[in-house]
Amino acid sequence: VWSAVPAGPPDPILGVTEAFRADTNPLKINLGVGAYRDGSGKPYILPSVAAAEAAFVGQADKEYLPITGLASFTSAAAKLAYGADSAPLKQGALAVTQSISGTGALRIGGAFLARFYPSSKTIYLPTPSWGNHTPIFRDSGLDVKQYRYFDKRTVGLDWAGMLDDIRAAPKGSIILLHACAHNPTGVDPTRAQWAELSHVLKEGNLFPFFDMAYQGFASGDIDADAFAPRHFVQQGHQIALCQSFAKNMGLYGERVGLFSLTTSSPEEKARVDSQLKILIRPLYSNPPVHGARIASAILNDPGLYKQWEGEVKGMADRIISMRTALYNLLTNTHHTPGDWSHIKSQIGMFSFTGLTQPQTEALAAKRSVYMTKDGRISMAGLNEGNIEYFAESVDGAVKG
Ligand code: LMR
Repeated sequence: VWSAVPAGPPDPILGVTEAFRADTNPLKINLGVGAYRDGSGKPYILPSVAAAEAAFVGQADKEYLPITGLASFTSAAAKLAYGADSAPLKQGALAVTQSISGTGALRIGGAFLARFYPSSKTIYLPTPSWGNHTPIFRDSGLDVKQYRYFDKRTVGLDWAGMLDDIRAAPKGSIILLHACAHNPTGVDPTRAQWAELSHVLKEGNLFPFFDMAYQGFASGDIDADAFAPRHFVQQGHQIALCQSFAKNMGLYGERVGLFSLTTSSPEEKARVDSQLKILIRPLYSNPPVHGARIASAILNDPGLYKQWEGEVKGMADRIISMRTALYNLLTNTHHTPGDWSHIKSQIGMFSFTGLTQPQTEALAAKRSVYMTKDGRISMAGLNEGNIEYFAESVDGAVKG
């Protein structure tokens, strides 16, 4: 029956983990997937998460959640993103649903817009963007186009190109924006640039669709990292927003996320809510409960919340210290050719190193150092035990 099914390529990100797992070299390093590791290279269970979980394990029932999820979680998560003073929240005009982490939020959003957004079926993504964005939106029924974002020459933002391409998008188009800690480049617009983008999107009647998978990971400050979507809402935009608690709570496998849409009234919100339910029910019926309970406990308990904020900052700070250490090793210890200052200036979980595909392939084959082929490394995969081996390997790959 399946003789005509062609073999597909491995996933550009999760396929790296498969290759890493198959490698028997004890010195191997996986900098592929964006998953936080502690100072000894181990997955990190946040103490706030462990405490929240311990309080209900074995006692909470396993009943179905409503289609749009656990209300105590969805309301607290929306407040975390939009801020307690946000107008659509206060007016009861925010449509929200729990989602299967950030990917699920993007997929619900893509499908909802494909079905109901009246002005366009085209979404513009930055070049480059997270590898899963294109398949998510295509499979949701949208056409995917690109706007310029990253300038290889400056290893920074192609601001002029970005503005030109967004201005040239047909009126009403959907524009995907990474709220903070752009994946894969680690290059974010400044606050002044966000303010200008807000004007440009308004002028073109363009629809801002935010992906916020890294709230807290950019600066270590939960509120500062939500600046962009909050600013757009304050400026009167209606937005879509996708949230993930994979990174900032370390709930990767629990699949905890949120999709929300600002609407113009409680009555409009009620209609949107009803259609979100109709969309989700045949997809996966209702979301998983365990991780949402953990996130809800943290977000709704002032003591746990404060503890969690400190832990997020701790993760962000460790990543920043690895940036400095790697920069110093390449620049001062090895005198590796090239300017490596972008490793320090880039934001969030990743560094877009500038290593070429042949270099990344050589690093995997000869040194068992794994990263995505575009030269992105997950900074969280580095620690005091492996950073010297990594820097030496990069130096070797660059010097050839
Ligand atoms: C990544 O970019 O590595 C993460 O967002 C994990 C994933 O699902 O790709």
